[in-house]
Amino acid sequence: MDLRAHIRDVPDFPKPGILFRDITPLLGDPTALQYSIDLFAEQVEDYRPDYIAGIESRGFIFGMPLAYKLGVGFAPVRKPGKLPAAVHTASYALEYGSDTLELHQDAFPAGSRVLIIDDLIATGGTAAAAAKLVEQTGCTLAGYGFVIELVGLEGRTKLPDVPVTVLLQY
Ligand code: PRP
Ligand code: ADE
Repeated sequence: MDLRAHIRDVPDFPKPGILFRDITPLLGDPTALQYSIDLFAEQVEDYRPDYIAGIESRGFIFGMPLAYKLGVGFAPVRKPGKLPAAVHTASYALEYGSDTLELHQDAFPAGSRVLIIDDLIATGGTAAAAAKLVEQTGCTLAGYGFVIELVGLEGRTKLPDVPVTVLLQY
């Protein structure tokens, strides 16, 4: 299965100079969608996660079906002001702006192994902030999974030293 054939390149979105890697064609193709979740599940099996943390918003799309398939729980890592109960907070820089992420303080039982899922790693700021949130819950970061890695931005260098699975590199 050629997943790359299901990613659409959109120049100058959301700002001039950004080449946006659009996953919506992949989501719209039932075979590619099923294949991407199945491949993720195979590749992260060894990480032995107890929970998946999916990063808003495209990390929800891949994180939730993966949690279902692995038979583990899911927690949303959200943009500020969205989660109703007590939260941990971490700020980060984006390829195009800056933002803050939040995670419920009681998202996971202490000591759980947590796998962070997002659609894409660019500069790595978002994924690094998500790791800080997992750390604040007293849990162990089991690893990361991304559909797409923008290799030239060297986002991996910002991540803690844990296993990383990516399905496609650009
Ligand atoms: C995108 C993408 C990742 C993040 C990667 O999310 O889905 O979460 O940027 O960038 P980084 O590695 O440079 O931090 P975005 O903030 O655009 O939010 P969205 O998923 O809600 O569209
Ligand atoms: N998030 C950050 N950079 C991105 C890009 N180039 N394409 C899609 N999502 C992104």
